[in-house]
Amino acid sequence: MNIDGKPYRTIFLADDGLSVEVIDQTRLPFAFELRRLASMQEAADAIRTMVVRGAPLIGVTAAYGLALAMREDASDAGIESASAVLGATRPTAINLRWALGRVAAKLRAVPTGERAAFALAEAARIAEEDVESCRAIGEHGGRILAELHRRKGRPINVLTHCNAGWLATVDWGTALAPIYNAHEAGVPVHVFVDETRPRNQGAALTAFELNGHGVPHTVIADNAGGHLMQHGEVDICIVGSDRTTATGDVCNKIGTYLKALAAHDNDIPFYAALPFSTIDWTLSDGVKEIPIEERDGREVSHLTGRRDDGSFATIQVVSPGSPVANPAFDVTPARLVTGIITERGVAAADAEGLLSLYPERRKAA
Ligand code: MRU
Repeated sequence: MNIDGKPYRTIFLADDGLSVEVIDQTRLPFAFELRRLASMQEAADAIRTMVVRGAPLIGVTAAYGLALAMREDASDAGIESASAVLGATRPTAINLRWALGRVAAKLRAVPTGERAAFALAEAARIAEEDVESCRAIGEHGGRILAELHRRKGRPINVLTHCNAGWLATVDWGTALAPIYNAHEAGVPVHVFVDETRPRNQGAALTAFELNGHGVPHTVIADNAGGHLMQHGEVDICIVGSDRTTATGDVCNKIGTYLKALAAHDNDIPFYAALPFSTIDWTLSDGVKEIPIEERDGREVSHLTGRRDDGSFATIQVVSPGSPVANPAFDVTPARLVTGIITERGVAAADAEGLLSLYPERRKAA
């Protein structure tokens, strides 16, 4: 996607050909800054502190982190310890474990002296595949928006939660890819952007992306979605996912479940858009089985933003001394999900629907 007319991906090889550069998402939307990750530890820190975030991008960054680790220690023990450090940075997004598992499994068959170069190439392949998956998700989801527009004969209002755009992937995004696809095809789309407390990925990142791309949008407080749905102002919800079970339960940013409930109550289609790397084929009950990251309570008790004079400020918004809780994700049961938009097409949110798109998993089961 373009920033000031220059095409960027969220992660790319630095000019030294060894380290990687990422967009520092903690500085957006007010400052666009690149950050160089030159060691495994720097990659792990970037994931943990959410310099990079979003399930697919976390996975790609972890893969590059493992490649960087191979320059420090390319032994089998080095693969294990780097995978453990990177794998512990964020527990919910399955893409992290998927990417580490893929690189590590291939690395073990490679001679030690060639592992650093091999891992770097494999990380780059994962990044390219992510771009292609997201582009295809955009095409499949874009058709849903075009069809809605054809039926209703007016601009389509989409509600989305958190940021599942190009900043959360390598390019294009998942939930936002259908919106970009439709917008580019001339289908009139307007997006209601949930602010997404506590970290405000919607207000800061999704709004920044849609602004940059010229897609009409309105940022709303998280609690406004149900009201808008009751009043016919939302035609469709599309969200991303950090982990989706083999049975179609969708784990995504905290607050997604409430939007799905409101959509269900108002007969509004609710889609999750995700690449294959987000499906956890080992799980069948998302509510019981998906580990939910609990993040620092300061994300709830404090807000960081820009003052009118351009300087940054962090302020406390919770009564001093009150305990806070900060579960970062929730699970939307499959029964509330109209469909899952993947790079292979749109599946019903159930085991059979997903297996029909990924028949190779049927054999593995
Ligand atoms: O905590 P974050 O910002 O990493 O959470 C991101 C989300 O929940 C996204 O919706 C999800 O990763 C899908 S990204 C394409």
